[in-house]
Amino acid sequence: MSACIASFFSYETTKSVVVKSWTLGLINRIVQLLILAYFIGWVFLHEKAYQVQDTAIESSVVTKVKGSGVYNKTIMDITDLVSPPQGSSVFSIITNMIITEDQKQDHCPEVSSARADPSTRGPSGHIRIMTGRCVNSSNSVDSFCEVKGWCPTENDTVTTPIMEVENFTIFIKNNIRFPMFGFAKGNLQPDITQDFLKTCSFHTQDNIYCPIFKVGDVLRFAQQDFYSIAKHGGVVAIKIGWVCDLDKSEEFCNPSYSFVRLDKKNNVSKGYNFRYAKYYKAENGTKYRTLIKAIAIRFDVIVYGAARKFNVIPTLINIVAALTSVGLGTVLCDIILLNFLKGAQQYKAKKFEEVEEEELEKQTMKLTSTLDSIVD
Ligand SMILES: *[C@@H]1O[C@H](CO)[C@@H](O)[C@H](O)[C@H]1NC(C)=O
Repeated sequence: MSACIASFFSYETTKSVVVKSWTLGLINRIVQLLILAYFIGWVFLHEKAYQVQDTAIESSVVTKVKGSGVYNKTIMDITDLVSPPQGSSVFSIITNMIITEDQKQDHCPEVSSARADPSTRGPSGHIRIMTGRCVNSSNSVDSFCEVKGWCPTENDTVTTPIMEVENFTIFIKNNIRFPMFGFAKGNLQPDITQDFLKTCSFHTQDNIYCPIFKVGDVLRFAQQDFYSIAKHGGVVAIKIGWVCDLDKSEEFCNPSYSFVRLDKKNNVSKGYNFRYAKYYKAENGTKYRTLIKAIAIRFDVIVYGAARKFNVIPTLINIVAALTSVGLGTVLCDIILLNFLKGAQQYKAKKFEEVEEEELEKQTMKLTSTLDSIVD
């Protein structure tokens, strides 16, 4: 108990022991050099620890699609094929349509025979309101039940896609800002000309700053086959990355584009489609609509980014951390010195010296008495 208290109320102070050993000296310097190299090479040069980072990028995206195609002998332009028309960062280009014309409120038989068979009808089968009557068609295998609502019901036969969509172009205007540094830039290069914009087409190697993308190219860069995505629909991301080192000149802060398909392929719910209708009224007051099931490629323009710039605080913190870590070399050398070197016991004795208070007093008494005798 008293030993415990005594050890608690004792003070340790460091005493430097100079060991004249080539091996130890070399190990010490090598360890210090490695730590210094790590901080300079990795922490400062590679990880750029002297900079602060802003990932809260602010961005605006405006898109414009151009092109026209043929569907069912009708020429369709972007007003018919692009939805919504505002030019937002998420838009769909319709590649195929199932059009059911002149629907009105009525009673009519359902088209699909599977829906008429109650055993195969799941919860979604009851979306329609049934009249309760079922009619047998001339073909005795199929029986159709009557539904109430917009008639005639949608015909689910799919035609060939609008292949011209492959040649449609998407123009993307993207402006970004890093609020922490007050830095703003757009994806149109400052030296861009009207003529260049009219003729250029983006390419991942040859033309990385052209803001006009051919639909077929985008799908190819995303490793997708145009025909299969046009047939079933799909979702494709156009990603714009802004990774900028603002310690360098502004001209080095440029967007990089990448493309990826976002919807996972599966057999149950294939592709992407949506329905919409156009309503009109006949002179006699009957309301009609044209129902359109649109199979489309949806493009999501996703902007991400991070900007970095020199800042005093992280620089100072990391310099202090580096200098402190250089001292770690002595820890390793101490372990070697006290355990593995020849004459470790002597070193230990030299390094840890215990001094008792009483002994000190005795020594000082002796000293003063000798001094006294000298003075006498
Ligand atoms: C797309 O454009 C190319 C070159 O202008 C043309 O050869 C091709 O037939 C076009 N594709 C479609 C589906 O119209």
